[in-house]
Amino acid sequence: MEVTPSGQACGATITGVDLSQPLAAETVATIRAAWLEHLVLAFPDQTLTDDDLERFTLAFGPFGEDPFIAPIPGREHVIAISRRADETAPLFAENWHTDWSFQKIPPAGTCLYGIEIPPEGGDTLYANQHAALEKMPEELRTKIEGRIAIHSAKNAYAPDGTYGEADRKTDRSMDIRPSKDAEATKAHPLIRSHPETGREAIYGCIGYSAGIEGMAQEDALALLMELYAWQTRDEFVYRHKWAAGMLVMWDNRALLHRATGGYEGHARLLHRTTIGGADRRGPLVSIDKGMVACDPEGISGRQIRRIRLPVTGQITRPCKRAFEHPIVAHPIAAAMLDQLFLMNGQDDVLAHPDPIGRHAQIYFASSRSA
Ligand code: SIN
Repeated sequence: MEVTPSGQACGATITGVDLSQPLAAETVATIRAAWLEHLVLAFPDQTLTDDDLERFTLAFGPFGEDPFIAPIPGREHVIAISRRADETAPLFAENWHTDWSFQKIPPAGTCLYGIEIPPEGGDTLYANQHAALEKMPEELRTKIEGRIAIHSAKNAYAPDGTYGEADRKTDRSMDIRPSKDAEATKAHPLIRSHPETGREAIYGCIGYSAGIEGMAQEDALALLMELYAWQTRDEFVYRHKWAAGMLVMWDNRALLHRATGGYEGHARLLHRTTIGGADRRGPLVSIDKGMVACDPEGISGRQIRRIRLPVTGQITRPCKRAFEHPIVAHPIAAAMLDQLFLMNGQDDVLAHPDPIGRHAQIYFASSRSA
């Protein structure tokens, strides 16, 4: 398998792997490592069915939940991003966003497989939010530090939103289902640590971010706009060019993305799945710079107090039982992990080394449904 970085703000191409076949654990680990490093991975020249797309997705986590867009017939977790050659409805997803950030546990990643790709145009843009934060002027960082954004799908999917009742009267080929449910809100910090690498990133942007806790709406929107202008600067952007038979996976936790047009008169069709976030089977406990950190929302519906503890070892291989591993030799860490382990059923606990070697994740594949 060969990983070739794009040379832009993020993104890499992976060749030498056939995704129509089940992947070995080491191959999945190598892809995950490249994903965390490059944030967008493109796999060209693949011939994939929807079964293959689903199997690939499940190698990296559970399916995410995809509201407001009906799945394609016969599938629960695959949606079509489509546009007919003669379609006149406004482009779908043309504004910068990160997928479903209004959810309590938004999807960790998205997989998009190109089926019909126009000869020109239709690129997808990705903005690296690790880089945007790292290079942010201190003055702006001070303004957003510790702030909590209020996310909502209202502007897009409520009956009076961009894809609401008026949009349903257009000739849009995508099966979008607006709903009053879009008015629900969920708060997320503007700066978040990536749950798998611990690296900080700006999370989300104006659009789904519709306000800031404790700030007058006018001030909040002004700050979100100022932040948006920084987040989407050219220097942080990777322009992805599609080809039919290309699968792309991206990391929603550290990126913004948007669709582009420029292919009038040509059809475009891609199939999309999302990789669920941390609450169902994802990372619950991370080892970050020698400390154990427990995700307070790690198990769906159950609040776990955030604690940080010194650890004594490094995970170097997958292991079955968290409490047997040297990384949890510290008695309090071991007790905490044992408790999580018991809450999740005793069948399947996998600890994976982090690719960069600084952190590790403990994954609980629960025998009970989360
Ligand atoms: C999306 O945001 O999922 C769609 C991106 C694209 O169509 O390029």
